[in-house]
Parts: sequence; structure tokens; C-alpha cells
Amino acid sequence: MPVVEPFMEPYRRHVLVCTGSFCSPDRRGRGLYALLASLLEREGLLFGPGRVKRGETPCLGVCAGGPIVVVYPEGVWYAGVTPELLERIVVEHLKGDCPVEEAVFHRL
Ligand code: FES
Repeated sequence: MPVVEPFMEPYRRHVLVCTGSFCSPDRRGRGLYALLASLLEREGLLFGPGRVKRGETPCLGVCAGGPIVVVYPEGVWYAGVTPELLERIVVEHLKGDCPVEEAVFHRL
């Protein structure tokens, strides 16, 4: 069996969205995860030096006040993320390098 070496294009940030049901019983995180893709595309963050990877996870260990979103490598954690707040996170934090401070509840 041939060995295929893994390869990945460079990226600047990784955003994880909790899609679990404990932090948001109506699982609003699922909608946010889908919305994140279109926002990243709109803001030109899917390719190039500012590339942002996204991932969904069933739990980030917070389990309250969600949906929870975390941005790495900074380790900036957001709670109660709405579609409007997600748009601000993409524009102000991921593109503008300025976290949305009033929505941050934890940092590394
Ligand atoms: S279910 Fe979202 S943090 Fe645990």
C-alpha cells in the first residue's frame, strides 16, 4: 500500500465552533458553522496568507452560554455567539486582528 504524505497549505488561524447540544440546546452552533464558511469566503479568508480554517466539534468543555466559538492560535473564546456576532468576529477579529472584546469570556 503506497504511503501518501500528508500536506496542508499554510493557514493563519483556526476557528472551532461547538455544534453540541449542551451549550445551546437548539444547536444553533450548526447554523453558525455553515454561516462561517460563507463569511470567510466573503471576506477573502479562505485562501492566501490570511487563510482561516474552520472546524466543528461536539463539545468544547464549556457546556453553557453557547454557542461557543474559539479562535486559535490566540486562544480567544467567545460565548453566546449569534450570527451577528459571528460576522463581527470574522470582520473585526479574523480580518482586522481586533478581537470583539465585549464577547470574550476566556483567553489562553
Ligand atoms: S456542548 Fe458546547 S461546549 Fe459542551
